[in-house]
Amino acid sequence: MKNQHLLVTGGAGFIGSHLVDALLAAGHQVTVLDDLSVGKVQNFAHQVDRPHFKFEQGSMLDVPLVARLVGGVDAVYHLAAVVGVKYVVEDPLHGMCVNVRGTENLLEAAARRRCKVVLASSSETYGKSTQVPFREEDNTVLGSTAAPRWSYALSKLLDEHLAFAYFRQEQLPTAAVRYFNAYGPRLDPRGYGSVIAKFIGQALDGKPLTVYGDGEQTRSFTFVGDIVRGTIAAMDTPESVGLAFNIGNPREITINTLAQTIRDAVDPRLDIVHIPYAQAYGAAFEDSPRRLPDVSRAEKILSFTAEVPLEEGLPQTILWFKEHSQ
Ligand SMILES: NC(=O)c1ccc[n+]([C@@H]2O[C@H](COP(=O)([O-])OP(=O)(O)OC[C@H]3O[C@@H](n4cnc5c(N)ncnc54)[C@H](O)[C@@H]3O)[C@@H](O)[C@H]2O)c1
Repeated sequence: MKNQHLLVTGGAGFIGSHLVDALLAAGHQVTVLDDLSVGKVQNFAHQVDRPHFKFEQGSMLDVPLVARLVGGVDAVYHLAAVVGVKYVVEDPLHGMCVNVRGTENLLEAAARRRCKVVLASSSETYGKSTQVPFREEDNTVLGSTAAPRWSYALSKLLDEHLAFAYFRQEQLPTAAVRYFNAYGPRLDPRGYGSVIAKFIGQALDGKPLTVYGDGEQTRSFTFVGDIVRGTIAAMDTPESVGLAFNIGNPREITINTLAQTIRDAVDPRLDIVHIPYAQAYGAAFEDSPRRLPDVSRAEKILSFTAEVPLEEGLPQTILWFKEHSQ
């Protein structure tokens, strides 16, 4: 599908800006909606002179603006969200408002236009489930309302429910992509939610790398180029509608191993220290012990497989941090 006009919400952010690059390179016209609360102009500065690129600064909560932008496009990639456990723990009300109300605004406008929506969801939606690898149709296991941390996962899960309700009841073509720990160049150096950004930042500052808990919890880290390919495949594959897809690299590593790998790549003399979760996030904090995607649905329906191993993606990310940290 060439020469479409596409809306990318959150297109000034980490993943969104890489998606914009790929869509422009494929010959599409792209409009970005982003409030720049986290996203940065630098992330798309290299595209502003292109005739097929347009940036609109504004919020997902601005109903007329969302309706106007959706009214002029063929399809929507919805990535705008308050992202990262840290932000959500600090201000859960704002996070839920943007992530739920913003998505509702978007889907309502898209239903009028009848244009396909690919929604960015998260591996967080599996919550505390220990039934690994995670399959899309598995039950989710989310914590109690006493732990605000789960409000991010719940907001993403509610987004999926909304998207699929619009599909079933309003015939709006929607698909959800559940990302598993994206990393790569343009990862926010503040490390708001990314352990890779945090470790690289600490190592480049010559500080000890801080691991929460015992460090034996695992994650599957997915290079941003793979995330973008999976997202575009979900848009371009007609059979994706009504479904959620794990978009992730099925290789699992412990946070201890990740810390050692980054420490060794930057400065092997640095220490690695362990900090209790309660000290980092407060007493009510809970984490998922393992997060591993079953990728068979994405392989079968989207013909998508993650290709970039950590050995290739991490050096690129560290280099980018070196070039962009002042
Ligand atoms: N990075 C990951 O590992 C990861 C994992 C799972 C899911 N996701 C999802 O992928 C999407 C992109 O995440 P990212 O890592 O690029 O994060 P990001 O914070 O870099 O991007 C989100 C963008 O949304 C924008 N935004 C926030 N509130 C907004 C509002 N009210 N109106 C308009 N724009 C607003 C921010 O300015 C930012 O540019 C998000 O939906 C996120 O939930 C990311």
